[in-house]
Amino acid sequence: METVVSGIRSTGKLHLGNYYGAIQNFVKMQHQYNCYFFIADLHSLTTHPTPDDMHGNAKQVLVEYLAAGIDPDKATIYLQSDVPETAELYLFLNMNAYVGELERSTSFKDKIRAQPDNVNAGLLTYPVLMAADIIIHKATKVPVGKDQEQHLEMARTFANRFNRLYNKEYFPEPYAFNFSDNLVKIPGLDGKGKMGKSEGESNVVNLSDEPEVIRKKVMRAVTDSGPTITQEGAQMQKEIANVREVFGIKSPAVQNLFDLMKVVSSVDTLQYFEDQYQNKSIRYGDLKKQLAEDMIIATAPIRERINAIANDAPYLRQVAKHGAIKARESASKTIKEVREIIGFKSF
Ligand code: TRP
Repeated sequence: METVVSGIRSTGKLHLGNYYGAIQNFVKMQHQYNCYFFIADLHSLTTHPTPDDMHGNAKQVLVEYLAAGIDPDKATIYLQSDVPETAELYLFLNMNAYVGELERSTSFKDKIRAQPDNVNAGLLTYPVLMAADIIIHKATKVPVGKDQEQHLEMARTFANRFNRLYNKEYFPEPYAFNFSDNLVKIPGLDGKGKMGKSEGESNVVNLSDEPEVIRKKVMRAVTDSGPTITQEGAQMQKEIANVREVFGIKSPAVQNLFDLMKVVSSVDTLQYFEDQYQNKSIRYGDLKKQLAEDMIIATAPIRERINAIANDAPYLRQVAKHGAIKARESASKTIKEVREIIGFKSF
């Protein structure tokens, strides 16, 4: 059976983007593959969380994995920090990863821009740790979003480089995996890019958000590109809007709302608003109201389970302990072999 690894950084609550972009795939894959799904708490250290946040955030992801349907009897669920073999492999791979290639990673460049006062070495070597996460279990399939393609390419580079250096076909190549050919795109509510909390809490709908919160966030979602300051800007906006109208192309912000609807609403609902858009009778307030209600329906069962599981400390303890044992079994086997390959021998 092929091995699957994926993880989500524990930096707070999970949102619809995490669910439809990743976790839904995890839940499907657990029936067909040997799956390891971890909570990437070591990765979260790049932003220096307090000890309380560290623990709370890790718990949040654990609870939400379980609430979303990952079954600890089928998949191995564990905390990254419970498997020190990952950190050891990270050290080995670091000797073999070049500063130049790490500096060229787009995610590193984005991070430098986002946190110029905290450009730590952990950010630079993030792709090395991610490679270690994956190849410690010799995984070949990695369910991740499109934005992780480059990291996967680097993981393949590090795995192959190790094999070449020691002249041994040891690590298999990991590839990004998704059930459909088109990776689902989950846009945020700010009318711009994908759903992500780095753009602010109002850009995301969390799995644990109460119905009232979801309604508020969705009703405030952006539908136009906003006022422009200059007259030329306003003129240009008008011209773009005209061109769009001629070709029946939605503005990016409106397209985002339709994309979200595609994910949470029924085919009929989507078609209804599509028709309204085409015959120009659409009212975005109505569309948002419907979208919010459908998001509430989609997340309700998960939210209920989150509330139940979060208070079940013995269950969480048992899941984490059991997962750590299973993950370490696999990881320590790899590390033992890697140490031999590298040439560490006992006297
Ligand atoms: N970099 C991934 C993200 O930001 C999280 C991650 C860390 C990961 N290690 C991984 C994903 C290993 C898959 C496999 O989403």
